[in-house]
Formats: sequence, C-alpha cells, structure tokens
Amino acid sequence: MNILGIDIGGSAIKAAPVNPVNGTLVADKVRIATPQPATPFAIAEIIAEIIAHFNWTGQIGCGLPSVIRNGIACTAANIDAGWIGVDVVELLSARTGLDTTVLNDADAAGLAEMHYGAGSKASGTTIVVTAGTGLGTALFRDNTLIPNTELGHLRLHGKSAEKIASAAVLTRLNLSYPEWAKRFDDYLRRLEELFWPDLFIIGGEISKNHAQFFPHLTINTEILPATLRNDAGIIGAAAAVLR
Ligand code: BGC
Repeated sequence: MNILGIDIGGSAIKAAPVNPVNGTLVADKVRIATPQPATPFAIAEIIAEIIAHFNWTGQIGCGLPSVIRNGIACTAANIDAGWIGVDVVELLSARTGLDTTVLNDADAAGLAEMHYGAGSKASGTTIVVTAGTGLGTALFRDNTLIPNTELGHLRLHGKSAEKIASAAVLTRLNLSYPEWAKRFDDYLRRLEELFWPDLFIIGGEISKNHAQFFPHLTINTEILPATLRNDAGIIGAAAAVLR
C-alpha cells in the first residue's frame, strides 16, 4: 500500500505518494513554499490542499523540523514558535481525517538513506547530516534510529553550529564552497570527536554539490553523499509509517 510522504521544511513543503517497499515516488511530487509565518494552522491548511491534490485517502507520514516526542512538537527552530507543545498527530489527523505519523525531518531523511539509499549497506554508527535551511542530524546504530538528536545545535565557535555551517549560511554570506567547506569540516570534526562514527552521509540541498566541498574536508571518517537527495525527507516520512 502506498503512503503519502510529506516533508515540511523551513522553505518548502514537498509531498508525493511513496511505494514503501522500494522507497520510490510513484507520482510527481508537489512543492509549495512554506507559508510565513509557518504556524500550525497555516501548514495544516497546505497539507489539506496536498491531500486534495492527490485525492489521497490512505495513510500519511510527515517530517517536521522539530523534536517530536509521542507525536508532540517540542521545539521550533525554523518554523513558528506556535508549534511548541502542539500534538501534531492529533492536529493533522483531525484536519485531514487520515491516519498520520509524524517525526523529525532529519530523522525521516536519515531513515530513507539507511533503508533505500547511501546507507543501505552501512553497519556500526552512522550520522546523517542534512544541510539546508537548518542543520539536521539522524543518528543510527546499524539500522536503528536514535531519534531527535538535534546535533545541528551543538555549540561551534560560540554559536549553534546551524548558524555557522548550514546551507543557508553559504547562500546568506555568499561564501565560496572552499570557505563553507572549512566551516562544515569544523562541524564534522566536532561530531567525530564526540561520536566516533563509522560513516557520515550528507543530505539536504547541499548534497547535490558534494563534489565542490568533499575534497576540502579533512575528516577521517568515511563520507558519502545522500543518494535520494531532496526526496529523502518525503520517502523517509512515508517509510516511518511502517516502523
Ligand atoms: C531543527 C531540527 C531539524 C533541522 C533540519 C534544525 O533547526 O532544530 O529539528 O531537523 O533544522 O531541518
């Protein structure tokens, strides 16, 4: 049974029906700019539009840039603060009438990469880093996700690492790839010294340009670009429904 995967990001909301057996999109995805402010009500309305667009009546899986515990949003880094404390499962189930699963967006992207993408043969400790508007992380021991790690907010040079090394910083400060790579390298080295991972997988919008910054990294850990690129959040949100 296909599942509708929805990836709610700081900049865009993307969705498509996904075949959870092989992790492929079974229809063209839709992409809608995230409403500003990105309040629970405004985003629930967009999700209702998406459901109508696909004429969807099945299960839905949703990734949100927030710590999600028992369906409840606990943080809101790149979305409206009004999300904090909201029971997201209840909100979206009530608005759509459909069975809904919710998880952190980076955890969703990580699940997709570990099940169908760059990490499908990985063992040991893997950290998936998604660099986009925010800096997200998903931590795995073999195939098991340890959810809500939020390592994008580790302190780096006195600030949240996200303010130093997200893809948004590269654009905002008009950095060259070598300049940005230096920052990202500092970040990965920090993760290395704290977690001693066996593998890094780099996803998010930056991953398509991996050839421009991988050669500048000085880490010792194996590193791979995400293979599902920007679809990982959609695919993983759908895959989470079956977990
Ligand atoms: C949020 C995380 C999210 C990441 C990527 C961070 O700002 O705190 O929950 O996974 O951005 O969107």
